[in-house]
Amino acid sequence: MTMIMAIESSCDETACAIVKDGSEILSNIVSSQINVHTQFGGVVPEVASRIHVENISTVITEALHQAHMTMDDIDAIAFTQGPGLIGSLHVGVQAAKTLAWQFHKPLVPVNHMTGHIYANRFALDHDLKFPLLALVISGGHTQLVWMENEWDFKVIGTTQDDAIGEAYDKVSRVLGTGYPGGPIMDKMAKEGKPHYTLPTPKVHGKYDYSFSGLKTAVLQLIQREEKKGEPIIKEDVAYAFQETALNLMVSKTLQAVEDLHPAMVVTAGGVAANSRLRVLLDEGMKKYPDIELSQPPIRYCTDNASMIGASGYVAYKNGVRCGFDVSADPGLLMPGEV
Ligand code: KG4
Ligand code: ZN
Repeated sequence: MTMIMAIESSCDETACAIVKDGSEILSNIVSSQINVHTQFGGVVPEVASRIHVENISTVITEALHQAHMTMDDIDAIAFTQGPGLIGSLHVGVQAAKTLAWQFHKPLVPVNHMTGHIYANRFALDHDLKFPLLALVISGGHTQLVWMENEWDFKVIGTTQDDAIGEAYDKVSRVLGTGYPGGPIMDKMAKEGKPHYTLPTPKVHGKYDYSFSGLKTAVLQLIQREEKKGEPIIKEDVAYAFQETALNLMVSKTLQAVEDLHPAMVVTAGGVAANSRLRVLLDEGMKKYPDIELSQPPIRYCTDNASMIGASGYVAYKNGVRCGFDVSADPGLLMPGEV
């Protein structure tokens, strides 16, 4: 039995979880700063780090309390080393180092994106199956990741410019509908009709993506309609953007499934919470009944520490450790990525 304490502070959630054997959540505390950042229309890094400092001790204490544990019960401390905002990451890294030093525990550095992939473990009653194809989609990343086994990550596709979540957030800002854009646009698109058309982004790599042109096309569409004196139907813009972006995403994913035939396909990251993406992938994967599709519940898609605990457990088993000289790495690559 292995108990991992996990700490996550890469963006605007201060979080601590205690996870047993990488698959059972004993506690999962998330303190969100979303209400503060909403006022600014996006995450303000300086503000985020200050709030992490204020909240980190409380979330750690609460995670132990809810798991009915003391530090004596913990085998290792996993923490998000990157990628993320440097000032935010720094707070979690310092907290992890301090606890490891005080209580003589091994320190396990975790890549936030591997955490998102391993969040799927909580949605399943069995281990992940390999080879595995992960569609990793968040505010900062859009990647197709191929895993031959549990600690082997190969990025086979990526965005050539903006991440998908970033595009959602920017389009929402242009429409004046607020932050974070993803859930807002997801909801608005449900009311939208196929009224506007947007060009499908052109991408070179077989499994690569591009979203910055689409964002510009939305901006141009709005300007064109304004010039014509036509009112903008925001729901219809959300619908057009979402259909174009997600169809690109799903077609590339299905192309990789067709070519590589994984044992399992998983989605990961904040954008994996999208309701339309869930439907499109479910439909697309019907052609492959022998390949398991996992789309984790929304609470495991967005940032939390239990996913760092799940990934941290696998890292710990695979001998991943670091010393007290470790520091936050805002541009950290996936293990093995060059
Ligand atoms: O993984 P995450 O919580 O943080 C990062 O690691 O970046 O992802 C945040 C991103 C934001 O861009 C947010 O707008 C997007 O995930 N998001 C969504 C939805 N919920 C969150 N995007 C589309 N549809 C959603 N329902
Ligand atoms: Zn994330």
